[in-house]
Amino acid sequence: MPYIESHPRRVRGEAVHMTASEKKASEMSHNSKAGLNDPSIQVRIRSPANMDCSYELISEEARHKAIEEAFLTPEANHFISTPEVMEMESRLSLWLQAGYPVHLIGPTGCGKTSMAVHVAKGLGRPVVWINGDEAITTSDLIGGYSQMQSESVRDNYVHNVFKTRDTMKIEWVDNPLSLACKYGYTLIYNEFSRTKPASNNVLLSVFEEGILELPTKFGEERYIKVHPDFRAILTSNSIEYAGIHRPQDALLDRMVGIYADYYGHETEVRIVMEHTGISQDKAEKIVQTIRSIREKLPDAQKPGTRACIMIAKGLQTLKDREDLTIDFQQMCIDVIANKTCSPKDMEEKKRLVRESAA
Ligand SMILES: Nc1ncnc2c1ncn2[C@@H]1O[C@H](COP(=O)(O)OP(=O)(O)O)[C@@H](O)[C@H]1O
Ligand SMILES: [Mg+2]
Repeated sequence: MPYIESHPRRVRGEAVHMTASEKKASEMSHNSKAGLNDPSIQVRIRSPANMDCSYELISEEARHKAIEEAFLTPEANHFISTPEVMEMESRLSLWLQAGYPVHLIGPTGCGKTSMAVHVAKGLGRPVVWINGDEAITTSDLIGGYSQMQSESVRDNYVHNVFKTRDTMKIEWVDNPLSLACKYGYTLIYNEFSRTKPASNNVLLSVFEEGILELPTKFGEERYIKVHPDFRAILTSNSIEYAGIHRPQDALLDRMVGIYADYYGHETEVRIVMEHTGISQDKAEKIVQTIRSIREKLPDAQKPGTRACIMIAKGLQTLKDREDLTIDFQQMCIDVIANKTCSPKDMEEKKRLVRESAA
């Protein structure tokens, strides 16, 4: 019996996945050229602009665009440009435009990810994102088969004949790398060197020959020609670079490397002011203190720009809490105490803060 909608239903919450009927309609419109113009087989999606989540009828193409706008446009809030920021940005854009993947390498908290997101946004293409870690496999990058529908039919129409039929439908689901290669998106692969090198091998032919190989597919479907708009920005931590998963030379040879060190005093002050709205003299004092601590600590323990922002936020919050008395030095100690390994080390850090914040 056909289902008749009696009243327009309004739904709260976000529709990220299509329902079975929407999926069917989408498949039909995909399979039929005329379908795109035929409103009877168009699909429905929540309009991203329409926050009360009513549904509207749109075509498959428009649906794709709506998803790109709603989920694949990065936020690059509070990004500031100073001459040194612009200099790095120019180099990054140049190499990307020349068609090379760019590897931003530098210590934690120096601004690599922010730069990658900012430049990716400037390219004007949707952006997909992967965070490298030990457990990442090639499928996490390229996708794989996933079971979409399973249907069991138990037919007992004739009382002494019992028939069952199980149908399982599997479908290929893309992950960030295959999406970026197919549709020409920008890929940000953050901390890529934390992934085991073997999982990243799939990137070799993408960067060199412009071909993505999907090892679990057969025949023609096994190879995807990389879209001309595909761009990749990879970041890695210079401290971890020589660690357990040192990326293979073949991969590094295919990318341009831009070394990003901590920004200079002026830029860090501007960043702190931009993120917290703190006054210039306070921002200067914070940045000066952290920079002085940074000089004296070993590489793996150096506090980055994030530490400056944290102290500034702490100070701003303290303004509203007259019942609390925490001095500036203690706040600095709290922010850098994370990487402390012993009571002796803590004493050393306290001494360092007292010297630097004087
Ligand atoms: N150009 C910039 N403008 C504004 N904020 C920035 C800028 N560069 C870095 N930051 C801020 O500094 C902090 C550290 O930057 P991040 O990009 O996360 O560093 P990394 O990826 O190198 O660890 C973040 O809070 C980020 O928002
Ligand atoms: Mg980062």
